[in-house]
Amino acid sequence: MDEQTRGEHNIEVEVDLDEFRVFPPSAEFASRANVGPEIYAEAAADPVAWWAEKARSLTWETPFTRTLEWDPPFATWFDDGTLNASVSCVDRHVAAGRGDTVAFHWVGEPEGDRVDITYTDLLERVSRAAHALESMGVASGDRVAVYMPMIPEAVVALLACARIGAVHSVTFGGFTAEALAERILDAGAEFVITADGGFKGGKAAALKPQVDEALLTCPAVRNVLVVRRTGADVEWVEGRDVWWHEIMETQPATHVPVAFPAEHPLFLMYTSGTTGKPKGILHTTGGYLTHVATTFEIGFDLKPDDVFWTAADIGWITGHSYIVYGPLANGVTQVLYEGTPDGGGRDRWWRIIEELGVTVLYTAPTVIRTFMKWGEQHPGGHDLRCLRILGSVGEPINPDAWVWYRSIIGGGRCPVVDTWWQTETGGWMVMPLPGLTASKPGAAMAAFPGISIDVVDDNGVSVANGHGGSLVITAPWPGMLRGIWGDPERYRQTYWSEFEGRYFPGDAAKRDEDGDIWLLGRVDDEMYVAGHRLSTAEIEGAIVGHPAVAEAAVVGVSDEETGQAVVAFVTLRQAGEVAQKHAAQLVEDIRAHVASVVTPAALPRQVILTPDLPKTRSGKIMRRLLRDVAEHRAMGDVTTLNDPGVVSMIDGLMVAHETDDS
Ligand code: WTA
Repeated sequence: MDEQTRGEHNIEVEVDLDEFRVFPPSAEFASRANVGPEIYAEAAADPVAWWAEKARSLTWETPFTRTLEWDPPFATWFDDGTLNASVSCVDRHVAAGRGDTVAFHWVGEPEGDRVDITYTDLLERVSRAAHALESMGVASGDRVAVYMPMIPEAVVALLACARIGAVHSVTFGGFTAEALAERILDAGAEFVITADGGFKGGKAAALKPQVDEALLTCPAVRNVLVVRRTGADVEWVEGRDVWWHEIMETQPATHVPVAFPAEHPLFLMYTSGTTGKPKGILHTTGGYLTHVATTFEIGFDLKPDDVFWTAADIGWITGHSYIVYGPLANGVTQVLYEGTPDGGGRDRWWRIIEELGVTVLYTAPTVIRTFMKWGEQHPGGHDLRCLRILGSVGEPINPDAWVWYRSIIGGGRCPVVDTWWQTETGGWMVMPLPGLTASKPGAAMAAFPGISIDVVDDNGVSVANGHGGSLVITAPWPGMLRGIWGDPERYRQTYWSEFEGRYFPGDAAKRDEDGDIWLLGRVDDEMYVAGHRLSTAEIEGAIVGHPAVAEAAVVGVSDEETGQAVVAFVTLRQAGEVAQKHAAQLVEDIRAHVASVVTPAALPRQVILTPDLPKTRSGKIMRRLLRDVAEHRAMGDVTTLNDPGVVSMIDGLMVAHETDDS
């Protein structure tokens, strides 16, 4: 928790979520589930042995004899074994006679732009790309920066790096040249893989120009491999830039993989975070692959005829773990979609699901709330009966969105699986199991089998049911980060110093009366109002429970009387239709609603109606900036914002609001 100071207050998180509904899986769904309730006890009896057994289902060149070596806070898993991640993800499925299985139904944003890629195709593409990288001089351990749209070559690029032991470091394609350069420099990358651009939101969004600009400050970069996707004109640096299609043509179609030690670095993923300098989170090979393959298989109750769609970008950990490594290690069929949710109409996703028979959809609450705002008519026009499981990731999902997702998208039949995890954890950590858990809307429910968590107070003491505190992970797990690139001290300080011997992810949580886990947002998003410790998630949950509200962000700002006061920023479902006089009434309604649903202490001092909220490009609300606005401070770093204009717009609203008040 760099830059984050947790309060010294030894006060419980207010626990008053107005949510009592429970949704067990249907008897039919439960009867077909792959695992039974005994899985928890089996894993808990000897978690390390349980994970080791799972690890053995990967393809090892040299089987491991050692499992966990724990020298806190540094862990190794299976470190005397050797394997090649791309072999477990691709070659072995072809070798098993499943080469004709479709790995990806790729859907480009422009209508009709579609390619099906089988495991045989994927193996050939990865093999050629591995040769191409080697011919450019990329060697094991070298870092390769990747900055790409959602096209098949992005998956191929990652697997080709893994195949030759190079460490990929993906920067989300929406980030600026500056952010890209910062990551290239920190990682010491000498190679970049990119594209001329990609199609998003109905237009060609360029990528190559940002790379060219970034490289002005990154003289160590030797080659840039460029996929032609949009056909846009690009600047070309002779000797440095290489067209993907040209070099691939001349490469052999088969490639003999070399095995690497299980602890060989697989990738870096920079967490932009909501504060501070990005951290290069390091993941290694054997443990990570074990974690993501196992969680994907069990957590989504994998069936042979499933078609999975993780609707996330490859530039985030979700794309790494649950588009590339977890699903491919299981040899499944997936959808890979290039564009935005409204690329080609607001029903684009529902058309894709219907046409390709998607059975499992995995997305983020912010997207679900956008769909709610757009209205039921869009999914309503499509036959979505192929769906059987719905997943959520990235933020606490408010109960209303959860219930909407389940009933409108899932037809009331599909379990909603809320998965709590982080870039740092590598894979899922806290979640219901779809065929077993009677889920509560908004709750992440329980630790995944083989994972040990706790909720503790500020002194690190486990809280009783019905109480809140900080989430901690109490034992090392196979997918855990192995460090922060180039900064072991920051690793120790950030994650392992808050509670001795335990990993602190920075999230607040509570255990309800049944012992089920609810995530309450980041601890730095908590506030202390008149002696009450309040979490943003609870107050926001209450506000979005109001029928007129689409989305809300709440911050605590300093207040002479109460220490901190609640300020809420709210977007409405039908923004255009609220007349000025109704707006005032609505604001009062929302304030009263919060006071009654959460606690009177949470009564917002101000409610600002705004057409939009500042979000990172992965959809997380940047409350830090809203705090700056609310406290009239100079704005912090806005480079990771999806739309930097939003903050100054809200600033304007805030000033107008305060002028009205006075
Ligand atoms: C938040 C994304 C509540 C949390 C996989 C975490 C969640 C941070 C959930 C990590 C969830 C993610 N419920 N909060 N289901 N999933 N978070 O690294 O605060 O982009 O610490 O990884 O997102 O974000 P990251």
